[in-house]
Amino acid sequence: MARVFVTSDLPGDAIDRLRESHDVELWEGRDRPARGDLSGREALLAMVVDPLDAALIEASPELRAIANYGVGTDNVDLDAATARGIPVGNTPDVLTETTAELAFALMLAAARRVVEADRFVREGRWVDWRPDLLLGRDLHGATLGIVGYGRIGRAVARRAEGFGMEVLHGVPLEELLERSDFVSLHAPLKPETVGLIGAEELRRMKETAILVNTARGPMVDTRALAEALEDGRIAGAALDVTDPEPLPADHPLLGAPNLVIAPHIGSASHRTREAMADMSVDNLLAALAGERMPHCANPEVYG
Ligand code: 8YV
Repeated sequence: MARVFVTSDLPGDAIDRLRESHDVELWEGRDRPARGDLSGREALLAMVVDPLDAALIEASPELRAIANYGVGTDNVDLDAATARGIPVGNTPDVLTETTAELAFALMLAAARRVVEADRFVREGRWVDWRPDLLLGRDLHGATLGIVGYGRIGRAVARRAEGFGMEVLHGVPLEELLERSDFVSLHAPLKPETVGLIGAEELRRMKETAILVNTARGPMVDTRALAEALEDGRIAGAALDVTDPEPLPADHPLLGAPNLVIAPHIGSASHRTREAMADMSVDNLLAALAGERMPHCANPEVYG
């Protein structure tokens, strides 16, 4: 029986399953648990927004398993965990299609100005019909540049082909930015991808291009993006992730035109979030039983 700290309640019955074998403490605070709440634990089931850095791992001498509720593990210091022999679980595959669907929903919403159109009608401005009303951009016949051709990048590419788009990936970033009508980010957040899309990269994009980010906020220079939208240097952006997260309501980016934005809901379908919970609990149960985690982000921990 291990003491497990779970930093958010999860959809489905996965936590009940965990309780059958372990002593589970569930964080129910409105805000995220503080460092002091996270440290000193034997096992953690954490969200991708919970920072599990080296200092926290050091302050947790009994910590022997971490399950991250997500595929991304940029919130965890994997090297520090590995050095301590702590396996870090994640949830690949189960969220691939769901996240790809949101990337497409955001791309379509930005291309066809769906949010703007909804607001237009609700504000009572639909008084007549004009041929030039809310003109948007087609996906069919356009070029989609995919940055990060992993599971989710490929799932987006499959959908793009179904939409009659030309898919571009694996070419130099400069070329991809210059040739694409839509640019969608699907790379993991690493030191080399922080700020990958800055003012210079935004200048390379077509004035008619739309940037989509369902990966991680710090991959895009938020201030440069706000300026590029203000100056009309690109035609639009659709974001599920931002830097910072949550984005304060008074953040300048929210004043920019042609921006569609969502609060990190990429994997937010009932079925997928339940599957992520089950996978996270399976990872923890295995580790706490001294077995190999089914989905481990630092497999080198097993030698
Ligand atoms: C989040 C994600 O985990 O899987 C990831 O890396 O970013 C998302 O699936 C999810 O939004 C819960 O915070």
